[in-house]
Amino acid sequence: MLTGKKLGIIGLGKLAEAIVLGLLKNGALKREDVAGSVKHAESLERVRTRLGVEATLDTPAMIADKDVIILAVKPQNVAKIAEQICPIVQHHQLIISVAASVTTGYIEDRLPPDVPVVRAMPNTPAVVNEGMTVLCKGKTATKEHLALAEEIFRHVGRVATIDEHLMDGVTALSGSGPAYMFLMLESLADAGVKLGIPRDISTLLAAQTMLGASKLALETKQHPAILKDMVTTPAGCTIDGLLELEDGGLRVTLMKAVVKAAERASELVVKKSEPNTDCLNNS
Ligand SMILES: NC(=O)c1ccc[n+]([C@@H]2O[C@H](COP(=O)([O-])OP(=O)(O)OC[C@H]3O[C@@H](n4cnc5c(N)ncnc54)[C@H](OP(=O)(O)O)[C@@H]3O)[C@@H](O)[C@H]2O)c1
Repeated sequence: MLTGKKLGIIGLGKLAEAIVLGLLKNGALKREDVAGSVKHAESLERVRTRLGVEATLDTPAMIADKDVIILAVKPQNVAKIAEQICPIVQHHQLIISVAASVTTGYIEDRLPPDVPVVRAMPNTPAVVNEGMTVLCKGKTATKEHLALAEEIFRHVGRVATIDEHLMDGVTALSGSGPAYMFLMLESLADAGVKLGIPRDISTLLAAQTMLGASKLALETKQHPAILKDMVTTPAGCTIDGLLELEDGGLRVTLMKAVVKAAERASELVVKKSEPNTDCLNNS
């Protein structure tokens, strides 16, 4: 479905770079079918060197002939970009926004009413093609639009689709999740150091163990409790470690962390809408 389509990216920064590299590496798109825009002239060279795709400062001109447009600027810049592209964008173009906390409604309010919008919440491991992206669609977007977005993000990891009202939970779980994992990774590596294992080996042990355990859960689809029991020999050492974790309240702490982050995500959601009525009145 993506083959032969033209992709435009507004904001060719860190996340967009990962997406473009994933698409090019897997042959999903040709370089000539991808272009993007940035804010600063000095970023143009970086984009051309690292990605080898056309880059410009002129966003409206760049999007004119594109089938899919990924909006990958910071959330606070979304309104300004919407204002810029409102007179150009058309109903046959799909807008995919990766801006955290920006609802589909916020974008739809600023673009002509028939323009389809899909919202995506990726996470940083997208940079190594192990991202988790969650998608939801706006008012006008169809299942086919969602499928097209899914095809794009599959090139940088796994994809799930959800109702937009659950996106704050998604932000708190898989969006912020890498930070929780890094904290645990660092703590496990510190424990190894405490036991005399050199830092580099200790970090490798902790990281590969997290990676392997995750892969085992994903591939076997077994409940985590069953997988945990497989490691836990009666009267062995693992159960002593688990006892300490339970005593320290690890489960409750993790659950409360995600709930708290979701509450914060809902506070950050950009809900208030003051659309650019000039463009909308003229469309
Ligand atoms: N990084 C992640 O893992 C991640 C995860 C989930 C969601 N997100 C979302 O993804 C978006 C981008 O994040 P990021 O980490 O990739 O940020 P970033 O590296 O700062 O990239 C933002 C890009 O936007 C460009 N830009 C800013 N204003 C512009 C304008 N007026 N016209 C055209 N381009 C403009 C910047 O250009 P210059 O390079 O010239 O400054 C930069 O390339 C954010 O909304 C964030 O919430 C990111």
